[in-house]
Amino acid sequence: MSGTSTSPMNLTLRIWRQSGPASDGSMVTYEVKDVSPDMSFLEMLDTLNEDLIVRGEEPVAFDHDCREGICGACGMVINGDAHGPERTTTCQLHMRHFADGDTIDIEPWRASAFPVVKDLVVDRSAFDRVIGAGGYVGVPTGSAPEAHATPVPKPVADAAFEHAECIGCGACVAACPNGAAMLFTSAKVNHLNALPQGAPERESRVLDMVGQMDEEGFGGCTLAGECATACPKGIPLFSISAMNREYLRAARKGGRPAG
Ligand code: FES
Repeated sequence: MSGTSTSPMNLTLRIWRQSGPASDGSMVTYEVKDVSPDMSFLEMLDTLNEDLIVRGEEPVAFDHDCREGICGACGMVINGDAHGPERTTTCQLHMRHFADGDTIDIEPWRASAFPVVKDLVVDRSAFDRVIGAGGYVGVPTGSAPEAHATPVPKPVADAAFEHAECIGCGACVAACPNGAAMLFTSAKVNHLNALPQGAPERESRVLDMVGQMDEEGFGGCTLAGECATACPKGIPLFSISAMNREYLRAARKGGRPAG
């Protein structure tokens, strides 16, 4: 990136192309012309794909859904940064952050727990399995409880909401030098463990989600902090230490041995 542009730009893209999970991949160079600075990064890729289709070439596969910064599907590494030069999702990154003549490297998330499916698409189902291990609250059968039956103090609601903002995009894993998923897992654990509704599963939740995270092959956390820097939703680094406290507490209470 070399500046902020207001005029249409011509760009060189070097994009990771990989036809399937078992194939070798490589960077392939493309030129895109007359890119509006008001386009989103994904719209710029749409333009490239339209050109490729017209030329009879295979379009670049990339994940996306909401294009509103909500679903977390659109992750890619842009010039070495998860989601690119702005602290936002790739779909919310605009081309005005690039300049005419720039060369942009575009790669998939790089982490052994996120294998490449095709081109820029990776398999993030490891996150789903971490969520499945404990990202829920028990709901007794019967009629719906009265809304005020379980009061939640404002600071507790705020803390839970701060962690609930995680959209599971995987930028934390991609940015981490160890490929660790501690920021994601801690956001999910702390969101529910903070609330009275999450209290019945408080111990089993943290033990099971951390156990599943380890099983999925994510790396170990050395508190490098890159995860929190890359997170488009601002999940704070202290989320990890809060989860570690929850884990030790649960292990001491007779769950499973810590470490
Ligand atoms: S496409 Fe949903 S967050 Fe980017």
